[in-house]
Amino acid sequence: MTQHTTPRVALVTGATSGIGLSSARLLARDGHRVFIGARNADNVAETVKELQAEGLDVDGGVVDVRDTASVDAWVRSAVDRFGTVDVVVNNAGRSGGGPTADIADELWDDVIDTNLNSVFRVTRAALTIGGMRAKDRGRIISIASTAGKQGVVLGAPYSASKHGVVGFTKALGNELAPTGITVNAVCPGYVETPMAQRVRQGYAAAYDTSEDAILEKFQAKIPLGRYSTPEEVAGLVGYLASDTAASITSQALNVCGGLGNF
Ligand SMILES: NC(=O)c1ccc[n+]([C@@H]2O[C@H](COP(=O)([O-])OP(=O)(O)OC[C@H]3O[C@@H](n4cnc5c(N)ncnc54)[C@H](OP(=O)(O)O)[C@@H]3O)[C@@H](O)[C@H]2O)c1
Repeated sequence: MTQHTTPRVALVTGATSGIGLSSARLLARDGHRVFIGARNADNVAETVKELQAEGLDVDGGVVDVRDTASVDAWVRSAVDRFGTVDVVVNNAGRSGGGPTADIADELWDDVIDTNLNSVFRVTRAALTIGGMRAKDRGRIISIASTAGKQGVVLGAPYSASKHGVVGFTKALGNELAPTGITVNAVCPGYVETPMAQRVRQGYAAAYDTSEDAILEKFQAKIPLGRYSTPEEVAGLVGYLASDTAASITSQALNVCGGLGNF
């Protein structure tokens, strides 16, 4: 740990897999008490057990970030367990797209609800129920995507949702700047997780080719020539949560092997 991090209470959504799991682990290793959430109760229980077995101060509960009552109850449980909230990592998300003319309302709405409306819901609950609003220091970190800055073919709802997360971040960052709460987005490019595997399956079907061919095509687009790891994305989350990152706010920062360059 090179930066200075005062241990605090952190919430991480979607922390049973991929980037969320790595972020929860890193924040807990940095001394935070971390409250995790996802929809699948067994996975939440297993992840809590796994992280506690590593000696980390972690607990969690079931949450569906598409549901305000569920989000509010989850934040209340976190406060009951660990105290008021200092750090929020809005990570839960889903992929989704296809030829735009063929996208059903249900798919469009679910991608926007899971990826964008959720960020508003969880952030609002953390500020109010979580007690962040009353503090003079806080960190709101949302996992957007390089697709939140550039268009992704066959990914209109996903790209729209992630552009929305970047816009939300910039507006709220400016709004909360006088309070000492920073608000930033982390924009991964391609990261090797279960979601990345599902994305490759989707493109392989859409282009009638193999998943290996899609992997090769994607890797060729990345200047570094490889996917990022969840740990590399978590590294930036941990930095943004640190005391040293106090002057970074309203930003959308890439972790993408050079895929995006703004
Ligand atoms: N992997 C990439 O290449 C990549 C690139 C750019 C951005 N991202 C973003 O990074 C974030 C994490 O992606 P990942 O690749 O780590 O995904 P992942 O491995 O599929 O994990 C997703 C996590 O979110 C949870 N989740 C999904 N829907 C939820 C809901 N409605 N309510 C609560 N939790 C929910 C999942 O658990 P349950 O299913 O049990 O709820 C799981 O814990 C997402 O926002 C994604 O868009 C990923």
